[in-house]
Amino acid sequence: MSDFDLYKLSSEHDMLRESVRAVCADKIAPLAAEVDENGEFPQASYDALRQADFHAVHIPEEYGGAGADALATVIVIEEVARVCASTSLIPAVNKLGTMPLLLSASEDVRKRYLPAVASGEAMFSYALSEAEAGSDAAAMRTRAVRDGDTYVLNGAKRWITNAGISEYYTVLAVTDPDAGANGISAFVVEKSDEGFTLGAPEKKLGIKGSPTRELYFDNCRIPAERLIGAEGSGFKTALRTLDHTRVTIAAQAVGIAQGALEVAKDYAKGRKQFGRPIAEFQGMQFMLADMAMKLEAARQLTYAAAAKSERGDTDLTFFGAAAKAFASDAAMEITTDAVQVLGGYGYVKDYPVERMMRDAKITQIYEGTNQIQRLVVARQLLQ
Ligand code: CAA
Repeated sequence: MSDFDLYKLSSEHDMLRESVRAVCADKIAPLAAEVDENGEFPQASYDALRQADFHAVHIPEEYGGAGADALATVIVIEEVARVCASTSLIPAVNKLGTMPLLLSASEDVRKRYLPAVASGEAMFSYALSEAEAGSDAAAMRTRAVRDGDTYVLNGAKRWITNAGISEYYTVLAVTDPDAGANGISAFVVEKSDEGFTLGAPEKKLGIKGSPTRELYFDNCRIPAERLIGAEGSGFKTALRTLDHTRVTIAAQAVGIAQGALEVAKDYAKGRKQFGRPIAEFQGMQFMLADMAMKLEAARQLTYAAAAKSERGDTDLTFFGAAAKAFASDAAMEITTDAVQVLGGYGYVKDYPVERMMRDAKITQIYEGTNQIQRLVVARQLLQ
């Protein structure tokens, strides 16, 4: 291998992209506007991903999964987000929900839950945030109290992606209130557990096809073997999870931005004003060039972060946060500029760029706001 091969995707990764792109063009893109309009979970898109085995590609083969590496997972999410950001949350949140199991759970817990996600029978969400514990996640109040061979959960989680659709949830709860971040533990909660209920779906600016709801625990009693890792290790598992999955949000941002750039480029080549296509005006060319440069920089940083996630490099915390912040800021700028390129047509639903601009916004907020990403990056830099 020459040094330059390091900067080229493998033919398997290129082929995977082509396969995902074909499924997206055929079955997911045609539904994207309707999914946004109706605000309903895109079951048909899920079925299409499941049929092609792209719904949870990261699950290792030993649990019945496709065993895709972190870069392959990023490519799947990027390609789905290019046409429908809501649908891209299916592979992304399946990874987010199950990553705590892959990082810290016992073999029994993994064997019990991962095969159903791999086959597509069940989805898996991640419940960290609370109404008063967003950026300051360790300030959570949901309690889990040991009682014999069970734990009893009480409290509420907020902003839970794919809640209600998911069968399983990684839930973070305080087991030792005096131990701060080291008094938090992680558990698997099942949708059918008694004492577990859901709030109404949030009415959102974007990603409308991905339900976001609250979770309520009212004396929700679960078997003690649903603990993920050791008691008190939950917060670290939660942050280690985010180190890996912030890369998938970067991928989502790259995908959304790619979709918007393509629409803007095609429009600029076709739209005539002052007797010629607007793409011939230098003002427009500079805008498109800036969009393409930012996008490519975001993509390269995201892929580098994915490689670090796959290898488990020690600087993943830096790279995961940097890729997420950089790519989501880029996506917000690129989608906003795409709307500008289309002018009035960009501002209405005749074209998908207004949806892409609304969808891009969440990538600057979830899995830690971009202010928190900068805090994480700075801590890594200065430590
Ligand atoms: N990996 C492992 N351990 C880590 C870690 C990491 N990346 N970062 C910190 N830790 C450890 C620390 O070493 C420390 O352990 P010790 O006490 O043993 O030394 C412990 O965890 C606590 O760390 P901090 O003191 O740094 O914790 P903090 O309270 O200052 O918070 C934070 C750190 C970075 C601000 C963190 O709270 C954070 O990331 N906040 C953002 C929350 C977030 O990202 N939420 C996303 C919700 S999920 C979502 O959005 C999903 C969706 O919808 C799709």
